[in-house]
Amino acid sequence: MPARTAGAGRVRAIGQGKRDLVAHRIGVIGGDGIGPEVIAEALKVMRSAGADLDVVEYDLGGARYLRDGTVLPDEIVDEWRGMDALLLGAVGAPGVPPGLIERGLLLKMRFDLDLYVNQRPFVHPEGSHDFVVIRENTEGTYAGEGGFLRKGTPHEIATQGSVNTRFGVERCIRYAFELAQARSSKHLTLVHKTNVLTFAGDLWQRTFDEVAAEYRDVETAYNHVDAACIYFVDSPERYDVIVTDNLFGDILTDLGGAVSGGHGISSSGNLNPDRTGPSMFEPVHGSAPDIAGQNKANPIAAILSAAMMLDFLGETEVAERMRKACAQPGTLIGSTTQIGDAVAARL
Ligand code: IPM
Ligand code: MN
Repeated sequence: MPARTAGAGRVRAIGQGKRDLVAHRIGVIGGDGIGPEVIAEALKVMRSAGADLDVVEYDLGGARYLRDGTVLPDEIVDEWRGMDALLLGAVGAPGVPPGLIERGLLLKMRFDLDLYVNQRPFVHPEGSHDFVVIRENTEGTYAGEGGFLRKGTPHEIATQGSVNTRFGVERCIRYAFELAQARSSKHLTLVHKTNVLTFAGDLWQRTFDEVAAEYRDVETAYNHVDAACIYFVDSPERYDVIVTDNLFGDILTDLGGAVSGGHGISSSGNLNPDRTGPSMFEPVHGSAPDIAGQNKANPIAAILSAAMMLDFLGETEVAERMRKACAQPGTLIGSTTQIGDAVAARL
């Protein structure tokens, strides 16, 4: 089974074993388009920061699918279960049917590894706002409930359901409360559309209120998702932690990136907070095939995602130094490799 990138194999012990601690075993999926380019810089920066990593590279994504039909074999997922974390660049290539790689690879990772929290921080480079979106990552419309009836006929029906379980909603909301409680502002906003999605919205609001009773020191708020779109643009400083469902979180976090310095710096973590398996870290941006291979992509989002990964693995000091080295991104201009070099040089 061709799991490993030919030739690349394992890159042992980044940091040259400066410490006696066991290295973190990281699965790395560069993926498609600009993915491999930005991931190379993230690895370079982690190496410079002295992180002790044992990297296994995987050749997966749209390009691999077009080459030999492989998307994500279960054997690879099983191999990942024994790892400490996964770092992904971006997946998606022209010529691959819509949804095939998204469902077959990215969502399969989220579902199979139970990465039920998607954490996306938005810290404006000029310091005007600093908030985190906690997006439920395994349910909602992403669960894939639905189907066709009379497909291709004038009476065709397509349904797409939203799956919301008490268990799934509650564990995500609890994570958000824990996070809000640990932050200085201690503020959590539920974002939904309770005025129209009266079933799912009711479950989310009730669960939110019940869990809130256990976190009295956390101030809470509720915004409809459409209103939240306005606030993201005109008063994002009102937010500290936001918790929301999968699809709202997907859309809101693209807007979050757009008002927080752009997608070149938006990082994310697909987390299994129970740590029963590896969590997966990736920039929010996609594979950008139009600029692939041109050394043009901003690697900061990938570097910050790698920092989030190290944070999650308990390497808080290394992660903080990496984040500091990425701060004031306006001062980091140039090609993908120049920015990576400049960040690495600051470490
Ligand atoms: C994201 C992406 C994915 C999503 C796609 C590629 C399936 O947009 O991570 O935000 O919708 O979750
Ligand atoms: Mn998205």
